[in-house]
Amino acid sequence: MSGFLKIEQLSKAYAAGRPVFADVSFTLEKGEFVCIIGHSGCGKTTILNVLAGLDQASAGVVLMDGREVAGPSLERGVVFQGHALMPWLTVRQNIAFAVRSRWPEMKPAELNAHVEKYVAMVGLSPAIDKKPSALSGGMKQRVGIARAFSIAPKMLLLDEPFGALDALTRGTIQDELMAIVRQTQQTVFMITHDVDEAILLADRILLMSNGSEHEGVYTPGGIAEVVVNPLPRERTRAGLHHLDGYYALRNHIVDFLVTRARAH
Ligand SMILES: Nc1ncnc2c1ncn2[C@@H]1O[C@H](COP(=O)(O)OP(=O)(O)O)[C@@H](O)[C@H]1O
Ligand SMILES: [Mg+2]
Repeated sequence: MSGFLKIEQLSKAYAAGRPVFADVSFTLEKGEFVCIIGHSGCGKTTILNVLAGLDQASAGVVLMDGREVAGPSLERGVVFQGHALMPWLTVRQNIAFAVRSRWPEMKPAELNAHVEKYVAMVGLSPAIDKKPSALSGGMKQRVGIARAFSIAPKMLLLDEPFGALDALTRGTIQDELMAIVRQTQQTVFMITHDVDEAILLADRILLMSNGSEHEGVYTPGGIAEVVVNPLPRERTRAGLHHLDGYYALRNHIVDFLVTRARAH
């Protein structure tokens, strides 16, 4: 257990004396898939942005591979809640843009083959020369995922990437993501508010509580508990609810969200 990604004593305050969260510490091992789950406003996106180097914590450090994260880097692939594609570029051009930033010396033929490989991986080859405006929401999120993988990042950071999708599309893309992650042994940190999504994908699930005030005393939010997923790693979405331990795990997380995540 070396700790590929180490988060130590992270806190973030937008208003003095009232940090959104404090004392957030956890580690990710290489190849591990970790989900964080919690109600809106507890600070999940803020944590992910700090890991991405897009935002600064008020205190604490983030180390990736032993080096401090101090700004954005192509070593980390990020998929945002919205798709964040460039609307004037086609799928091919959007991904090529990222690949060229990562490997400026890459020859056009190699670049094109590389882009086509990642577009095929998410099943979008027929739409490769379309612009985002011609794609459905699910297709746009797929482009975002292909783009994140195409730069061969050391880790992936996903902020509710399927939140805006209908249940059917979400299921399909979850399966695709799981297959790709297993195959590439990517290290992934993902935010979700979908309990089943976390149980399907994550090796460990971080339960995050909101900051709260009780009798005039403010307690910041933080990681309340780390749940290890006991289910076999070869699980599938269709078979999940047949597995021993599934309901106990699901009930535990739902109980947390209903009774403990927000102090009353
Ligand atoms: N730039 C900002 N300025 C002030 N408050 C912010 C800013 N960004 C986020 N917040 C506040 O910080 C809290 C956590 O936000 P966020 O990280 O987006 O939560 P989550 O992703 O868990 O819903 C929220 O209460 C939000 O209003
Ligand atoms: Mg968020």
